[in-house]
Amino acid sequence: MNGPVMPWGAYPTTRLRRNRRDDWSRRLVRENRLHTDDLIWPVFVHEGENRRQPIPSMPGVDRLSIDLLVDAVGQAADLGIPAVAIFPATPPEKKTAEAEEAVNPENLICRATRAIKAAHGDRIGVLCDVALDPYTSHGHDGLVRDGYVVNDETIEVLCRQAVVQAQAGCDVIAPSDMMDGRVGAVRHALDQAGFQQVRIMSYAAKYASAFYGPFRDAVGSASSLGKGDKQTYQMDPANGDEAIREVALDLAEGADMVMVKPGMPYLDIVRRVAETFAAPTYVYQVSGEYAMLDAAASGGWLDRRRGVLESLLAFKRAGADGILTYFAVEVARWL
Ligand code: PBG
Repeated sequence: MNGPVMPWGAYPTTRLRRNRRDDWSRRLVRENRLHTDDLIWPVFVHEGENRRQPIPSMPGVDRLSIDLLVDAVGQAADLGIPAVAIFPATPPEKKTAEAEEAVNPENLICRATRAIKAAHGDRIGVLCDVALDPYTSHGHDGLVRDGYVVNDETIEVLCRQAVVQAQAGCDVIAPSDMMDGRVGAVRHALDQAGFQQVRIMSYAAKYASAFYGPFRDAVGSASSLGKGDKQTYQMDPANGDEAIREVALDLAEGADMVMVKPGMPYLDIVRRVAETFAAPTYVYQVSGEYAMLDAAASGGWLDRRRGVLESLLAFKRAGADGILTYFAVEVARWL
């Protein structure tokens, strides 16, 4: 016999187009839906007051001063968006080789977190990245020794960064650095400091991708990194099985939620992670994906609303429980 015997018949008895004929029956058979509850909104914060600065490689996305950010986050909460992920554009003079600013309780991210939590409380969750790249003069996510990003020494700083952010009121610590063993170490450090309730969403399968370019402009790490790349710690885009091992480790170390990043080119990874672990699985539609969709829509080459909604629905179909997307507010308004 060739292949399985299907429980349904063949043409002309079976006509799959029947269910597609009318809007009501298309709705009735629809398998996946995008909801505002699925969205996490990444935002960029910079110094100053009443200060908004466009990011040229991400048209429509601005760096906001804390006061404007608090208002914007309030609007996101009003729309029902469950969480925001905040990223700092650290002033260049505060970036150092050892990333001291990352553990300064008065740094941008901590002040922004305190302001958001004071204004909006538990109406919206706040995610903070744990990684050193917004704070290092060389643009790497960790400490560099003899030209190599060292693992264990970096983790010590990451743990202090996580605790300082938790003290500021961060709800979800999101290690995006890809050091080995960091999730377990950060969990331990948070627990020791009394933050048992602070969640960890690990960037578990994070690839060394070309699609982070606009983000690095936004936080100003592109110029620091120069020609450097992150291939000694982020994953090789050629690998799929390795993503399963990364996610398994992070879950074993105590991650509450895991993330795959980037999104659209890695839908196969999202599907495998969701199926293999049945754990809360998230996907990051990264800056380069935003820039591509925005550029095509701005050029009039694709319909913005339909294109964006389709890209996000695809993540749900692949098995994601939620999506970090720069389109979050726009999409919440459409929904
Ligand atoms: C920091 C970090 C990056 C992103 C999120 N956290 C950049 C990088 O690893 O170089 C990328 C997000 C995006 O491109 O939208 N480690």
